[in-house]
Amino acid sequence: MKTQVIKIDKNNPEIDKIQLAAEIIKKGGLVAFPTETVYGLGANALDEKATQKIFIAKGRPQDNPLIVHIGDISDLDSLVKEVPENAEELMKRFWPGPLTLIFKKREIVPDRITGGLSTVAIRMPNHKIAIELIRQSGLPIAAPSANTSGRPSPTNSHHVIEDLYGKIDMIIDGGDTGVGVESTVLDISTDIPTILRPGFVTLEDLLEIFPQVDIDPAIQNLSEKMKPKSPGQKYRHYSPKAKLTIIQGEVDNIVEKLVSLASKYEKQGLKVGIMATKQTKNKYIIGNVLEVGDRKNPETIAANLFRVLREFDKIGVDIILAEGIEEKGIGRAIMNRMKKAAGGDIILVDRKK
Ligand code: TXA
Ligand code: MG
Repeated sequence: MKTQVIKIDKNNPEIDKIQLAAEIIKKGGLVAFPTETVYGLGANALDEKATQKIFIAKGRPQDNPLIVHIGDISDLDSLVKEVPENAEELMKRFWPGPLTLIFKKREIVPDRITGGLSTVAIRMPNHKIAIELIRQSGLPIAAPSANTSGRPSPTNSHHVIEDLYGKIDMIIDGGDTGVGVESTVLDISTDIPTILRPGFVTLEDLLEIFPQVDIDPAIQNLSEKMKPKSPGQKYRHYSPKAKLTIIQGEVDNIVEKLVSLASKYEKQGLKVGIMATKQTKNKYIIGNVLEVGDRKNPETIAANLFRVLREFDKIGVDIILAEGIEEKGIGRAIMNRMKKAAGGDIILVDRKK
């Protein structure tokens, strides 16, 4: 298949170009487009055949449901059976933005996109290109992240080209996405709202609205055999080609352990990648060191994480040793993605006091 790549200004999207993309969506084709989190691979959410193409292009398991993107809160009523009071407040505060909410779906939403579930995940992205595309096509757009299933999510158009060129109709190049990790998925059908996937909207943000918020226990204990409520969380994901190990604890202890592991692996003849931070990068004198961001400003780590994982693949390292960060605020989303990339391979370095 021929893939068209078009550049669109994210601050001031050219309407004629958006219309070209919207025509493809209306005709049942696939368009990759930027959102504020990561690039999405979009199709008409009401067209079962079109959404099936998404699963094929990505190699995505059929039971992993898609998020439906809307361009206006008023689009919600035609897709969901009821809008709980909780949701109203959340939408007012966080939409457009990186918060996905789970609703009871109407018949009109094909089972194909919900993986047979009676619920549908919906969000309104905070990105001019995404919103214009949805509005111009006059349709809700189903869109998972625009990567090959299992690979790190794309945060610029080059990542999409790497994974999907030749498999989809169009790629919109709208520059870097910004946030860098996917939206928070929140289930509000239960008495206590539950985070099914941590994201840019944090537990702390949600606790400003609700007295209590749970985190699906299955995503905290990735190694244990619990079934996550969000089907996507059960798959190994965000994975670079090299094996990734996380070293978690106090920074000085992390560096000490990482240095000794790196030299051990290099002696074995392995090419070692080190995912370091602004504060630590100068402490490593061996290995291929990439800085992922600033520990004091973990949003920068979120923004760079997936790009850096892909860069290690380009360098062709055999093993990646990655510094862990504190699991609070956006750190929860970052560590969730890193742990999944590591397949649960994590070394805790702090000595018990
Ligand atoms: O930021 C994002 O959310 C990006 C951009 C493109 O919007 N999209 C994204 O989609 O990350 P995807 O398909 O890669 O991840 C969707 C997640 C999966 O973990 C999926 O299992 C979960 O949302 N999900 C979708 N529908 C669900 C439902 N009805 N119940 C529970 N989880 C659901
Ligand atoms: Mg994804």
